[in-house]
Amino acid sequence: MAILVTGGTGYIGSHTVVELHQQGLEVIIVDNLSNSKTVVLDKIETISGKRPIFIEADIRDSQALDDIFSEYNIDAVIHFAGLKAVGESVAQPLRYYDNNVVGSLRLLESMAKAKVHNIIFSSSATVYGSPERLPIDEDCALRTTNPYGTNKLQIEQMMGDLCTSDQNWSVVALRYFNPVGAHSSGLIGEDPSGIPNNLMPFITQVASGLREQLSVFGNDYDTPDGSGIRDYIHVVDLAIGHVKALAMFKQSIGFNAINLGTGNGYSVLEMVESFERVNQLKIPYQISPRRPGDIASCYAQPDKAYAVMGWQAEKGLDQMMKDAWHWQSKNPKGYQ
Ligand code: NAD
Ligand code: WQD
Repeated sequence: MAILVTGGTGYIGSHTVVELHQQGLEVIIVDNLSNSKTVVLDKIETISGKRPIFIEADIRDSQALDDIFSEYNIDAVIHFAGLKAVGESVAQPLRYYDNNVVGSLRLLESMAKAKVHNIIFSSSATVYGSPERLPIDEDCALRTTNPYGTNKLQIEQMMGDLCTSDQNWSVVALRYFNPVGAHSSGLIGEDPSGIPNNLMPFITQVASGLREQLSVFGNDYDTPDGSGIRDYIHVVDLAIGHVKALAMFKQSIGFNAINLGTGNGYSVLEMVESFERVNQLKIPYQISPRRPGDIASCYAQPDKAYAVMGWQAEKGLDQMMKDAWHWQSKNPKGYQ
């Protein structure tokens, strides 16, 4: 089987390519390198003993996609390519709609032309906005609060409409909660450019001395310690979820949305304590005002993933902390 992985040199994509290789699958990556580097391909090869085929192209380039589908015998697509910074999406909405929504539209058009009808899409818990209930199941109301989230929802809807129009299509939209950590080799991991927006890379950069201290955004939420609660999931568990989802394509299944989370919520202060304990390091922090747009708590009801594809998260918080620090301490400047 050959799998086309869009955005495969990125954080989650690279971890997924390693897992696909471990299953003996052939991987073709298409990425425009807007947020990743080709050195990732060397690292993937070191880990899995196999080098994925790499094509530098933008998913909005229909000709480039058509050429890939005609050159390779592709069975399914895993679609990671996209821009992912919430704040940036508020400031530059058209760029986000173009890259994410138009990019996905072009990809689906090329797939339709090539009669490749199986796709796994990187969706996000952000489609639940301020969640209707906790834990969040897939039937919770979908109500986004920023252009990035709206992009994800529109792409899901586009894929759902396609499945309604033609029963050959099979779509698995995986709604990720908060991916963290890195491959246990310390060879691949998250390499944010500039000041990290997300909690985990900020913590590891404070630990390595790149940043002075962490700002804890709010300690007056309606949570046991007042700081925000999220469902952090190890990126390798997430990657394995994609391999499991591929097995659903044995028959046409229409549109499926599936949460990928652990079902456990941890607060920002619990994350700091856990990182300090596991890695025997101190994380200086200050309590800062709430970050605009943040919610108090967000964690998954992950049972559907187990029911429909036999997947559940295996790695706990300590492993996430250990692997995140292993990657950061081995690569203080990321892939540079
Ligand atoms: P990432 O930025 O590391 O990877 C995305 C990759 O896509 C990058 O290599 C980038 O160069 C590429 N890309 C972007 N636009 C492209 C285009 N138009 N054509 C070709 N390549 C393009 O991000 P990630 O954290 O690995 O996220 C992967 C996917 O998962 C994204 O769609 C993201 O929205 C989604 N997601 C991420 C998180 C998270 O917290 N990391 C959570 C939920 C969902
Ligand atoms: C986690 C918690 C912060 C940084 C975002 C996107 C979401 C998804 C994942 C793609 C919150 C707190 C953070 C810091 C802090 N991406 N925090 N100090 O906000 O749950 O989700 O990334 O789909 O769409 O919105 O993740 O890691 O930014 O924050 O106190 O320096 O850590 O307030 O409670 P979030 P996060």
